[in-house]
Formats: sequence, C-alpha cells, structure tokens
Amino acid sequence: MANTNLGNAKTAKNDEFYTQLADINKEMQAYLDYNPEVFRDKTILLPCDDPEWSNFTKFFALNFQLFGIKRLISTSYAPDAKKAKYGIEPSLFPEEEHDPKFDPSKWQTRGKIFILDRDGNGDNRIDIDDLQWDYLNGDGDFRSKEVTQLRNEADFIITNPPFSLFREFLKWIMDGGKQFSVIGNMNAITYKEVFPLIKNNRVWLGGTGFVSDMVFAVPEGAKIKDSDRQKAARLGYIGNYTRLGNSCWYTNIEHGKRHQPLSLMTMADNIKFSRHNDIRGKEYQKYDNYDAIEVPYTDAIPSDYDGIMGVPISFLDKYCPEQFNITGITKTWFGGACKTYPEQTQISKDGKESTVTKLNDGATLVLDTPPENETYYKVDGKLYSQVYARILIQKITTS
Ligand SMILES: C[S@@+](CC[C@H](N)C(=O)[O-])C[C@H]1O[C@@H](n2cnc3c(N)ncnc32)[C@H](O)[C@@H]1O
Repeated sequence: MANTNLGNAKTAKNDEFYTQLADINKEMQAYLDYNPEVFRDKTILLPCDDPEWSNFTKFFALNFQLFGIKRLISTSYAPDAKKAKYGIEPSLFPEEEHDPKFDPSKWQTRGKIFILDRDGNGDNRIDIDDLQWDYLNGDGDFRSKEVTQLRNEADFIITNPPFSLFREFLKWIMDGGKQFSVIGNMNAITYKEVFPLIKNNRVWLGGTGFVSDMVFAVPEGAKIKDSDRQKAARLGYIGNYTRLGNSCWYTNIEHGKRHQPLSLMTMADNIKFSRHNDIRGKEYQKYDNYDAIEVPYTDAIPSDYDGIMGVPISFLDKYCPEQFNITGITKTWFGGACKTYPEQTQISKDGKESTVTKLNDGATLVLDTPPENETYYKVDGKLYSQVYARILIQKITTS
C-alpha cells in the first residue's frame, strides 16, 4: 500500500480533504470503549475512500484481527470523475503501473474496490498486506447500483464523504438502514434533511466532540488559508495539511459520552454565579416569536426550568437523551414560531438600513435600546435582535 501521493490538484475543494489516523482512532475508540465487540463479525464498508492512501482503510486493515472484523471493503471514486468534478488531475501511484492488475484502459474511469477478508499471503495473519483490489464496473459513485449493493451487504458505513454531497450521502445510508460514522460540517445539524434525524435520536454526534480541531491532508498544490495551514502545523502536521474547526462526526453507533448528563446549576444560581456577564445578574429572556427562553450558553442551562429553552447548536455535543428532549429548531422550515413579522427594517452595525424578511428565520428578542456594534431590526417602531440558530430543548422530568 502506497503512502501519500494525493495527485496534483489545482485548487482545494472541500470534497478533497483526507482524514488523519489520530482522528479516526479517537472516534472509533469511543465506540470500542462502549462496546469492545462492536465490530466483531461485521462487514465494514468504507465508500468515497482512496484506499491506496486512505487512513480509514489503513486503520481498519491494521486492526482487522484485533476488532474481529469479518470483511472490510473500501471503494474509491475514479480519477476521471474527480477531474471532471474537482479539477483533480488523475495521477498514478508509483507502483500502480507495475501491478499485474493495472489496466491502462480502466484506471482513469473505473473506481476501485479493496477487500480484506482472508490471509492472502499465508503469513498466518490477516492485515493490511492481505488487501486484494480490483476495478469496479463503474466510477465508484456511492449512488451507483454497484456501490449501493455493497452498502446493502455491509453492517457499518464509515468514511469522510464529500462535504458537498453530505445530505445525499446521509440519506443513502439511512435508506440502507445501516450503522454508520461519517465526518460532516457542523452546520449540517441545521439542515432540514439532518435535524429531524437528530431530534428523533436516529443520528447523534460522535464521541470526539466539537472541541477538537480536525486536521486533513489536502492534495499537492491545494489553495488553503495560511492560518489553517499554520494551525495544522502547530498541531504537528506540516506540509499539505489544513485544519477545520467546524467538522464533526455524525453517527448512530452508541458511545458513552452521550449518556453522561450535564451537571447544571439552578436558574437562581446561574443568575448569581454564572461566569457569563450576560447571564449573571440578569433575567433569562423569553423570545418574542417562540414560546421558549433564550439560553446562549450550554453551561447556563438552568437545571430547574421546566419549559422550552433555546440553546446553541453546540449543545448537541453535550446532549444526553435521558436528560433532555429536543423539541425543535428555530428555523422557518421546521415551523413552531408563534408569530410572523411583517416588513422589517434591518439596521446593520454601520447604521445602514435595508428592508428584509429574515427576522422570520430565527428566534428574536425584544430590545429596549439599539445595541452597539450589532445588527438589529425595527418592526412597527419596536426593536428586535435575532439570535443564531437555536435548538429547542426541554428537561425530561422523572416522576
Ligand atoms: C472528503 S474526501 C475523503 C476521502 C477519504 N474518505 C478520507 O477521509 O481520507 C471525499 C472523497 O469522496 C470522493 N467523492 C466525491 N464524489 C463522490 C461520489 N459521488 N461518490 C463517491 N466518492 C466521491 C472524493 O473524490 C474524495 O476522494
């Protein structure tokens, strides 16, 4: 198996980010800590992978026997398909041409399949050296019949799919009714295709949590922000790496972290002792257009409030389904607002006024006075601010 040669990309597309071993290890360990037998006798499919250099393939192949995996299948998307979509020039691995299976008529247009399920080289171990590969019949698109058939045969789907196809990818997994663990952008939480799955506890966040930056390898020559390259370097990844602070794991595999309830103070204690200046000494405010109170920080959720509370999406990192119910999200597509505003005037930070309708897409707070350095809105002479997307939650009361 070759090490790293990511081809000659002209530009870095979000879809060509390659996951690091440490991040995969951390997340999979969360599932293994909860259930050491989680992968035993299971078939694991790693689609949207590049098995020649993928750390997903490497991780599961190296741990094949330890985890007791039955079958590991990894598929890649053809170089020509990448070129058409992302401008990635097809590139050969140094040893690819010398592989007896190499076929010049197929290598650019066909995806590849790597399978590990036996000791192929007779060294009495099943490991990375026993991976067998072949060309797929098609380009390896996860939506193809061929890869969908592999999905149907698998127990687990694990990968970092192309971010631009995240909605479609998650639907593809859910349609197959599979267990999965995939990396996505945090903002996907608010998508109408994703949030209902989270609300109904069919999908949750992985064990890694939001706090850690994930580092990704990018193709040679990729354009990435200097600040992200430097941040990756500070984390020990020097060269063609970037860091994304807004990615997380989505899964339906059990892990212990999601069953640890948050330790919280009462409302009175928050008002007395909160470390947040905008909570200490203030009242929790009710939204003007939702029947809920605004709680801008997860650690300021009052333990003794029985009504509905609007919390930041980062709450999901600490969400314990035995402690809270998720009742909604403050997005228009979800519904649930108790009022619709007529025409609004938006006053931006620099004082510029414009007529907008966006006050209806989110929770609002009534203001007594115009805020400094913040956008606000005027409707029929009343002033409002709009808070970021909030998840609506309610404490589970045990009688
Ligand atoms: C974010 S990268 C991650 C690659 C690898 N799973 C990893 O984490 O290192 C997504 C991969 O999906 C591939 N891809 C893009 N569109 C695809 C599609 N429609 N079907 C399958 N794979 C696709 C990309 O070429 C890329 O290799």
